Amino acid sequence: MADTIKIIGISGSLRTGSYNTAALHAAQELAPPDLHIEIGDITQFPLYNADVQAVAFPDAVLKLGEQIRAADGLLLVTPEYNYSVSGVLKNAIDWLSRLRNQPFAGKPTAICGASMGPLGSARAQYHLRQIGIYLDMRFLNKPEVMIGSAHERFDAAGKLTHEPTRKFVGDLMIALRDAARNAKR
Ligand SMILES: Cc1cc2nc3c(=O)[nH]c(=O)nc-3n(C[C@H](O)[C@H](O)[C@H](O)COP(=O)(O)O)c2cc1C
Repeated sequence: MADTIKIIGISGSLRTGSYNTAALHAAQELAPPDLHIEIGDITQFPLYNADVQAVAFPDAVLKLGEQIRAADGLLLVTPEYNYSVSGVLKNAIDWLSRLRNQPFAGKPTAICGASMGPLGSARAQYHLRQIGIYLDMRFLNKPEVMIGSAHERFDAAGKLTHEPTRKFVGDLMIALRDAARNAKR
């Protein structure tokens, strides 16, 4: 059997009970057996400040940068805040983008997101694609997984229960696995 593909998954919401973190957990559950998703921790990232960077990168930034560099791909799960990505996700990307040998370049990257509105973070996801251009992220185009009405698709324990959405998430993980495997060749 082929090597396991290693992915770092990042949720753009820090709140307990986040639908986006729940979607990340669903991706872990629904990934094919040869795709392993480790959750990247952005909870300890300070607000970006070039003065802080000039002294030293925070340990949490260095650690996640190393994890992303060592991974075969990335899964970014974004909420939609005021029609864009959440501030904490943008802040994390900003920090990581300033690392020497920034870790996003050439990395196969899947996007997913959930919101309680009908569009399922679609606007945020397209902003995220724009953010990734200069960073040379290699976004998967399809399937697009935009989980609208999230409060109706996850149960109280955070399990994704909506069968068509489970299929989309599983298909996205297969596409990410295949893209990451191709990039390794
Ligand atoms: C500051 C803020 C702005 C928001 N803006 C949007 C928005 O533009 N579109 C949308 O669909 N939902 C918006 N919401 C609602 C979020 O989609 C909802 O709170 C969602 O549950 C956040 O993701 P989470 O569950 O992973 O924390 C906003 C929520 C907050 C707190």
